[in-house]
Amino acid sequence: MGYLLAIESSCDDTSAAVLDDRLLLSNMIASQKVHELYGGVVPELASRAHMQNIVPVVHTALMEAGISKNQLDVVAFTRGPGLMGSLLVGVSFAKTLALALDIPLVEVNHLQAHVLSHFIKTKDYDHAPRFPFLCLLVSGGHTQILRVDGPFAFQILGGTIDDAAGECMDKAAKIMGLPYPGGPVIDRLAKEGDEDRFKIAKPHMPGLDYSFSGLKTSFLYLIRDQLKKDPGFVERNVNDLCASVQKTVVESLMEKLIAAAKQTGIRQVAIAGGVSANSLLRKKMQECAERYGWEAFIPPFSFTTDNAAMVGMAGHFKWKQGLFCSLDAVPYARG
Ligand code: KG4
Ligand code: ZN
Repeated sequence: MGYLLAIESSCDDTSAAVLDDRLLLSNMIASQKVHELYGGVVPELASRAHMQNIVPVVHTALMEAGISKNQLDVVAFTRGPGLMGSLLVGVSFAKTLALALDIPLVEVNHLQAHVLSHFIKTKDYDHAPRFPFLCLLVSGGHTQILRVDGPFAFQILGGTIDDAAGECMDKAAKIMGLPYPGGPVIDRLAKEGDEDRFKIAKPHMPGLDYSFSGLKTSFLYLIRDQLKKDPGFVERNVNDLCASVQKTVVESLMEKLIAAAKQTGIRQVAIAGGVSANSLLRKKMQECAERYGWEAFIPPFSFTTDNAAMVGMAGHFKWKQGLFCSLDAVPYARG
């Protein structure tokens, strides 16, 4: 037993969650719509929106959990990586609250939190992997294959040398004139499309590394060439374009993950991060589980994109290990 409040503010979602050990009691997320107008996250606007959102989001998380702030035992917060102005809001809030309540503070790495989201328990869900397991971490900023030997024992087996998978989907969407963030839009439009209609260059990287910038350029050239002949090309083919780009990204991701499972002999395989919400990636994980005898860990949708529940889970492990953080901790933008 022990109540933990977690704060996440690394990018454009202000989130607060309350956990009772591994059991999630509440997970509030205020997403910032303002960035849609600009086709990407505007850091100054993100910091300002975090300032507006943080108090009501924390208040609602406590109410939803049915506890008062005086019952909290510990506060966890995302220290990095992320946007500096955004992180500063969550870090300062967490420190102030911990100081005011005279309770300990734990700092969390955002990427580790995505991976550890698999340990969150809800009233009707508990499917935690055992160590060691493999995790494909795919978000807007990162694409990595990790070997996870313990809550904080991570080994990077492979990663992207340029764009992240989510970034690639977002850029492909932008090329087609679709709204930000593009990943979920592509996912939705791809459902009505033919994934074999357009050939998009697949990256060829040695070992377990990824590269997505060539794929994006190949897609850009395809659209540019077709638009010269037919200005209505994108509108008429948007579903097939989305399905083709999604298939290329997901196949690239899965090829290396399958190779990593073969190389390590590890059969517990997880996905995490915003792109793990993608329906094709989730389907391919299930297919691989049947084909290769994996135990696949596919997170519930609410734990895929940025959320404080995962920060709380990582914070829980730190708290139980006595890994506290001092009040002079500063955020870090890169991790
Ligand atoms: O983990 P996340 O919320 O933020 C980072 O830590 O980066 O991931 C955001 C990324 C964005 O690039 C977004 O387009 C992508 O996750 N994403 C998706 C889907 N939902 C979110 N990509 C593909 N299919 C989706 N359904
Ligand atoms: Zn994230």
